[in-house]
Amino acid sequence: NFWCPGDVLKSTIFFQRNFKAKDSDIILASIPKSGTTWLKSLSFSIINRKKCTTPESPLLITNPHDLVSCMEYDLFLKSENPDLEAFSCPRIFSTHLPYHALPQSILNTKCRIIYICRNPLDQFISLRHFLLENSGEDQQKAPPIDEAFELFCKGLYPFGPVWDHAEGYWNASLNDVQKVVFLKYEDLKIDATSHVKMLAEFLGFPFSPEEDENGVVKEIVKLCSLENLKNMEVNKNGLLVLSPTIKFKARSFFRKGEVGDWKNFLNNSMAERYKKIMEEKLGKSGLAFE
Ligand code: A3P
Repeated sequence: NFWCPGDVLKSTIFFQRNFKAKDSDIILASIPKSGTTWLKSLSFSIINRKKCTTPESPLLITNPHDLVSCMEYDLFLKSENPDLEAFSCPRIFSTHLPYHALPQSILNTKCRIIYICRNPLDQFISLRHFLLENSGEDQQKAPPIDEAFELFCKGLYPFGPVWDHAEGYWNASLNDVQKVVFLKYEDLKIDATSHVKMLAEFLGFPFSPEEDENGVVKEIVKLCSLENLKNMEVNKNGLLVLSPTIKFKARSFFRKGEVGDWKNFLNNSMAERYKKIMEEKLGKSGLAFE
């Protein structure tokens, strides 16, 4: 009951069938272009801060997507049943699957889920730029914006519709606050520091008063900021090769990170139309976007 991209259909099924979650696992979930890269950087830094301080962080030389692997775009794409026992605990993985499509073992264990979502119009524009940036000779070009918007309004895009995607995790976060935390990209932009503290608590790695006093939280926020990550050599020139046909330029994951960037590309009537769709789809859920 979601639009699964053809190139990860098999790996999605392998993930659903073969993944064995552990209670200590951490799953970062999102629809693409909602802040996944940021969430990966922050969660990785929170959990590993004792092993490597900020000046030694692997983030300085490694793309966040190589530090936290995606289930369907990486691990289960490369192997039907990858050996995940070798990962040190707590293991952190990411997925774009909606809540209802997650493997049973994620739902049956105590593993924790952090979900990030974003104003869908900004996410749509972000996805568009990402597709254009990565549309090489052998890859399909993104359709004209009007056509793409039409599909978007019908929920017809990777892992969509977004209203179902977000509502699934929203309801799960209301039903079990120990298991699922629901974040909005826009809230993180307003106050990353308090969100980092909250995430650290949720993940079982709270900051001590000394760490707080010594500016560790602020260091993590700065390390993981768009400005910082965007200018690192590995993120400027690297290439993420996930399969012979799925390759992404590292720089395409770091663009503007602006709230409301859709206003530069979509007109008011498009926005009004989408607003009505969202009200109709999410009206009763208590979940809303600006
Ligand atoms: P824009 O295209 O609007 O700039 P994802 O990580 O899910 O692929 O989402 C990509 C979006 O998040 C892009 O948005 C990108 O610029 C933004 N982004 C990436 N890293 C970020 C960071 N460290 N802080 C804030 N935004 C970030």
